[in-house]
Parts: sequence; C-alpha cells; structure tokens
Amino acid sequence: MTGEETGVARGPDDAAVICGVGYWLPPQVVTNADLCERLDTTEEWIFRRTGISARRVADPGTTTSDLATRAGARALASAPGRQVQAVVLATTTPDRRCPATAPEVASRLGLTGVAAFDVSAVCTGFLYALATATGLIAAGHAEAVLVIAAERFTTLLNPRDRTTVPIFGDGAGAVVVRRGDSAEPGRVGRVFLGSDGGQRDLINVQDGYFQMQGRAVFRQAVERMAEAARLAARAADWRTEDVDKLVVHQANARVSAAVASELGVPENRHTQNIREVGNTAAASIPILLGQSAENGTLLPGDRVLVTAFGGGLTWGATTVVWPELKTTAQMRRRDVRVAQIDPGGGAPVE
Ligand code: UT7
Repeated sequence: MTGEETGVARGPDDAAVICGVGYWLPPQVVTNADLCERLDTTEEWIFRRTGISARRVADPGTTTSDLATRAGARALASAPGRQVQAVVLATTTPDRRCPATAPEVASRLGLTGVAAFDVSAVCTGFLYALATATGLIAAGHAEAVLVIAAERFTTLLNPRDRTTVPIFGDGAGAVVVRRGDSAEPGRVGRVFLGSDGGQRDLINVQDGYFQMQGRAVFRQAVERMAEAARLAARAADWRTEDVDKLVVHQANARVSAAVASELGVPENRHTQNIREVGNTAAASIPILLGQSAENGTLLPGDRVLVTAFGGGLTWGATTVVWPELKTTAQMRRRDVRVAQIDPGGGAPVE
C-alpha cells in the first residue's frame, strides 16, 4: 500500500478530499410514545430535554457489520470507480472483541486484501477515523480510504434505564476520502483531536450497561466542541461568519445549540437530525453529512465546520468545503444502478 504500489506520486499540494458519502438507518422507528409504554418518562420530557422525537433501533439479528456494510456500499456507490486501499471503521459496538469488524466489512464490500481496522473513540470515533484516513493518504500509504462509523449502540443500554434509552439510536454513515489538491472542494482541513482519560468515568460501560453523568458531560461537551471548532476554523482561516454550515455531534439539541451560540454561528446555519435519529454515537456525524447532502442542506462550496465529543473523554473538530457529490438516493432517482445491498448479512455486497 505504498505510494509506489498504488502508483501515486505525492506532491506539495496533496490533500485528502471527500469524494463519496452514504448512510444507512435500520427501518424500525421507536417513538417517544413507544418508550413511555415501558419507561417512567413522558414524551414531553424527552423532547424538551433532548430534542429527540424518535430513534432507529436495529433488530436483534442485525450486527454492526451489517449496518457498516450498507453505509459503506452507499458511500462507494457515490464515488463510482474509486478504488480504496483501506477501510477504517469507527465503532463502540464491534461485532466481537476479536478480531476487528472492519476486515469483515471490507470483505463483504468485495474489498478483500485492503487494509482494514477498527478505531474506538466513542462519539468522536468518526473524526478519529477521518484523521487516520487523511494521515494514510498524506503519508502515501493509500490513494483512497473508506471511512465508516457504525453503531448498534442500543445493545449497550439497560432497557429499564430512562436516563439513557431515550437518547441513543442505531445507524451507520460513511465517506470515501481520496488524494486530491488542497484547493479542491471536499478538502478535509486539519483535524484537531483531544482526550482526557482522567474523566473516563463520566461516560462508561459498567456492569454490562452504558452509563453517563449527563449534566457534567453536557458542560464538557459544549466547552470542548466549541474550543476544538474554534481551532479548526482558525486553521482554515475562517471567521465565524464564514461558516455556512455547522455540523455538531448529535448528542442533544440543547448541546448543539449551546455550541452554536458559543461560536456565534446563527441558528439557520446549524444542521440537525437528532429529532428523528437521536444520538447514534460515532455514526452521528457521517449520517448527518449524508442526510444533509441528500436533502440539499449541504450545498457544493459550503464551508462546513464539524465537531464531535464523546466518552474517553474524547473530542475533535475539522473543516470541509463541501464537494459536489451524488448521493445514492439521488442516483436512484436518476435510475442509475447502485450497489445491491445484501440484507441477510454475510454475503458480499456487489
Ligand atoms: O454523546 C456523547 C456526549 N453526550 C452528551 O453530550 C450528553 C449531554 N447530556 C445530556 O444530554 C443531558 O444531560 C441528558 C439528556 C442526559 C439529561 O438531561 P438533563 O436536563 O441534564 O437532566 P438531568 O440528568 O439533570 O436530570 C433532571 C431530572 C432528574 O430528576 P431529579 O433528580 O431532578 O428529580 C432525572 O431523574 O430529570 C430526571 N430524568 C427524567 N425524567 C423523565 C432523567 N431522565 C428522565 C426521563 N424522563 N427520561
């Protein structure tokens, strides 16, 4: 996977450029009303405190690799003809402890032979994986990389815990990143990443179930995401008024609003999908990018500021000038054949 093997000569203006995007959500919708039937809560509490009305939950037969394979296939379909040399999968819920889930996903996508590994940084996982991909490209180890974030986060939750069940959902999102020119749309800016293991107990899995100290995490999330986003914007030479779209990890609508307010980005430049999908952990950012590209919220040339925060603690931010992309939904509308996705799992995806 060296520059020689991929036939790639590195130049001074090399940059990593997003050239494909896709996402997948499991079909089962669980509404706040559904949760009220089994938890001591109200629809009003959940929506008012989190901004969430519904979330998607994968059925017990669906694995993280199923979700990842579907999202990965869609991202590859939106970058036709692009060969990738690596698959980086961000997940908190791998199919098994050993081996990693990414090689199986790569195989099912027909990519046997490429480098494939998992990255674990909870809700910041996508940005850690994206930084890894841009590094592989910058170092000449790969020409293009498929970055996927996939979570069956609901499997970590205590079904009787009203403080976590309403918040999280399942899903997957992916981007294809290729070598490009620093002036090209799609260019991924410097990715700022951070962590604080001294606060690992604020978000963790104990006695088999996910736990979170909500109020303390809220404060940290706002502070860390705003700080990282400021650094990323500054590195791109953007002022707040230059930001066309703010993409914040969908943890809580109040967290995102507070980050936007800290940064001085107006409400109408703030992209959101938490109402329908809840918090999908690592998958949150690429699902939001994919949906926003598909529904026209993200437009080619938009200066997009992206920031995330999660357990570890971990956080990160970067910038992207949004490229012209064909999403799979748009391609379907235009009757272009896209990847056939195997719903049963296990079989390769064409
Ligand atoms: O994705 C990684 C990053 N995650 C985050 O950034 C999450 C940040 N934190 C949050 O989103 C919020 O803190 C939560 C949504 C988790 C909680 O909201 P909150 O407004 O901070 O509520 P709280 O935890 O302070 O709880 C307030 C009250 C408590 O009752 P008391 O102690 O005041 O009597 C809770 O027991 O609300 C109660 N409560 C509920 N009531 C009805 C907690 N969950 C529920 C519920 N329904 N589902």
